[in-house]
This record gives sequence, C-alpha cells and structure tokens, in this order.
Amino acid sequence: MNEPFKIGIAGLGTVGAGVVKILQNHADLITKRAGRTIELVAVCARDQKKDRGVDLSQCEWVDTPTDLAAIDGLDAVVEVIGGAEGAAKDLVEAALDKGVSVVTANKALLACHGFDLAGHAEQGGAALYYEAAVAGGIPVIKDLREGFAGNGITGVYGILNGTCNYILTTMQETGRDFADVLKEAQDLGYAEADPAFDIEGNDTAHKLALLTALAFGVKPDLDHLPMKGISHLTAEDIAYAEELGYRIKLLGIARQVDGKILQMVEPCLVTAGHPMADVSDAFNAVCIEGDAIDRGMAVGRGAGEGPTASAVVADLIDLARGHHVPMFGIHSAQMKDAQWMDADEMYRGFYVRLTVRDQPGVLADISAIMRDHNVSMEVVLQRGHDTGGPVAVTIKTHKTRRADIMAALEKLAGIDSVVEAPTCLRMEGF
Ligand code: NAP
Ligand code: HSE
Repeated sequence: MNEPFKIGIAGLGTVGAGVVKILQNHADLITKRAGRTIELVAVCARDQKKDRGVDLSQCEWVDTPTDLAAIDGLDAVVEVIGGAEGAAKDLVEAALDKGVSVVTANKALLACHGFDLAGHAEQGGAALYYEAAVAGGIPVIKDLREGFAGNGITGVYGILNGTCNYILTTMQETGRDFADVLKEAQDLGYAEADPAFDIEGNDTAHKLALLTALAFGVKPDLDHLPMKGISHLTAEDIAYAEELGYRIKLLGIARQVDGKILQMVEPCLVTAGHPMADVSDAFNAVCIEGDAIDRGMAVGRGAGEGPTASAVVADLIDLARGHHVPMFGIHSAQMKDAQWMDADEMYRGFYVRLTVRDQPGVLADISAIMRDHNVSMEVVLQRGHDTGGPVAVTIKTHKTRRADIMAALEKLAGIDSVVEAPTCLRMEGF
C-alpha cells in the first residue's frame, strides 16, 4: 500500500465537519479509490471546545490556520473557513508557497485572488482545487477544465446559488415571505456567513467569475460583472411572472460573442417548461455550450453540508491519486484580460413592474415614455382599483435594447404618478 495522504483541515463548520464525516464514514471506499488512505492529521477552528458531531480525538489541533501549512509532511490542506481576505488567504498562500496542495470551497477568495493564487500554486509546484466552490453537487469545474477540454466553449450559465433558488421556489410554492424563507435557508446551512452575499448576487458573481475564467481562459474579473440580486423581488413579481408563463431564477450567464465576453448576474424570467425553470429547492443547474458537444445541462444540489463536502473529498481523492492540473486548466501566463461586451447592447424582452397612483392618464404617460424610448409593449396588466392610491402596473415588452428600457425606466421613475422604484427583469430564452 502507498504512503497515507496526509491532510489538515482549517474550518470545522457546515463544510469542514461534513468533510470529516465523509472521510470517516467512507474510509474504506476512499482508500480503494485513492489507492492510499487519506489521513486527517491536524485541524483548526476558532473554538476547540465546540462539539462538531465528529470524532477528532486522533487529530492535532493547531492555534491558527497558517500553523497547518507549517506541519512537516502534510500533502494537502483543506481551507473551509471562508472570506476573501485574512485567515483563509494567509493559509492558502502559505501552503502553496511551501508546495502543499490546497482544496478549498471558498469562491469569494478565488474570485478576488484566483489569478494570483494560480501563480503561487505554479511557483510552489502545488495544486489548487476548488470543485466545492461552484455548485458542489455538479462537477462543473472538472467538466470545464478536463471533460470538455477539447471544445471551444461559447457559453456557460445557470442557477448557481442554492439559497436564492430555495427562497424563490419556496415563496412561489407556499406564498411565504422572503425573510422567513431566508431564515430557513440559513438554518439548513445553505447561506453564506453574511447572507447578503447570497441575496444581493455576490455569491453567484464569485462563482460565475470562476466559470468565465475556466471557460474562456481569461482572468477572473469582478469589476466587469454587472450584478443584481433578488432582495427587491416581491411575492407579487413571482405571481405576475407565473401568470405571464415564466418562473423567476437568479442566473449567472457568461457568453462569448465575436471575441467579446458578456458576463452578468441578475434575476431573470425563464419560460415555464424550460428545464432551467423546473430546477427547484436548493438545487443548482449549469448549462455548458461547446462547439463539439453542442449543449449539456447538469442539475444537482449546490449548497449545504453533503454536496459541498462531497466535492472537497473528490478533490482530495484526485490529489491522493497524483492528479495535478492547472487551476484554470491552462498555465496562468497564458490567461488574458478579457474584452468585455457591454450588457446594455443586448436585446431581450423585459418584465417591468411599476407602482403607480391609480388616476386617469397614468397608462398614457407610461405608453408615451415607452414610445419615446423605442420600447414596444406586448402585455400590460393592471389589477385592482384604489383611486389615487398605489396599484401595480405590470408590463411585458417585445425584444428591446437594454439601454433603451433602462433609459425609459429612469424617466418613469421621475414622474409624479410613479411612486416606487420600478422593478425590471430580463427574459432569458437561452
Ligand atoms: P461555517 O459553517 O461558518 O464554518 C466556518 C468555519 O471556519 C468554522 O468552523 C469556524 O470556526 C472557522 N473559522 C472562522 N474563522 C476562523 C479563523 N480565523 N481561524 C480558524 N478557524 C476559523 O462556514 P461553511 O458554511 O462551512 O463555509 C465554509 C466555506 O465554504 C466558505 O468559503 C463558503 O463560502 C464555502 N461554501 C459553503 C457552502 C455551504 O453550503 N455552506 C457551499 C459551498 C461553499 P468555529 O466553528 O470555531 O467558529
Ligand atoms: N451560499 C451558497 C449558496 C453556498 O446558497 O449557493 C454554496 O456555494
């Protein structure tokens, strides 16, 4: 039998404790698959007294995460602390610089510093694996980096945040309110330490930046990733979308068109009946388009202990087998700064919800502004009657240049009869 593959784990929360459970519960299976035992040598978390529901009696506890990198003879460290800066970054850099491979679930760290960290890995002769960072239950990193390595990739997109999908689908199915369902997603271990990262779109943006880098060989770039979350959406939006024949999904989309790349994150209306529209609960879905494969879509759980820990363990088994590929599938010296496409130049149908005073002439004002901005309306709905009071007017447009609808909405937001900031969602037909 080969020498044991020795690891340390920093972070013993939802993901870290989940990794220990899988390593212990499937020790025999993992040894057969890896060709050697994976031995947990040392761990680190803030509170050494907390019960983690796992047996850590055989492990050394170290005081700080970077102490793990200093342990002699360690083959890999698992970083599941979280955060783009601080303890997680210090540990990953220290380990890679020493030639110790790293497995992490930390998409915030990689989206912000992935290009530099790829350099650290190359210089240290170590691997940096992160299958758990994007849609843990779907091996999308491996797909893009290895499985589809023979393709020119033209698009990668999907539902990348389990918390948001859980909120949107639970609100739709039960009519419960946003805050209540978010709390439930937190209790289930789906949400980030700061759930604003989920509901404002940052987490999806972090994941998409990594997929864009892998798909197109460009440096991850959050500065050119327009992003909107779901916190402004209401039960009314979900119900109107359904009435119009759509489901609302928070999508991350990256496409390459004529040498330029468009990447963006925002809630979109997806036609009911499209496979992406039926992805519910905390499930994620990722669609990849390539010149040889055409198109493929995978669905799987993207948040929570099991799927995330499963992806970490898969990376550890790969490393124990001696598998070693560059972080983004190509050497970092070959990664370019992308040419980014302007999202305002895209043409789509849009859903708009306006809250207006219920008074004569309002629809005429709205129509005039839409006309002046070259926006053609396909459906206009106004329900209820409350003279002078606020009522919702919902509009579905024909295909419109994004810059035009945005300019129309800016104008509409400024008129007296519109009493709240308009809500506008893109329709995505893929
Ligand atoms: P978590 O439950 O909050 O666990 C974080 C762990 O890190 C805790 O054990 C904590 O120690 C430890 N920790 C925090 N700061 C530390 C420090 N300075 N030194 C040592 N230990 C420290 O978080 P999680 O949900 O497991 O997420 C971990 C990472 O996985 C994050 O990057 C997250 O984005 C990513 N991720 C999570 C999921 C998910 O569904 N939860 C899915 C994919 C990726 P104490 O326990 O002692 O406080
Ligand atoms: N908070 C993240 C989500 C965890 O809800 O998808 C998985 O990355």
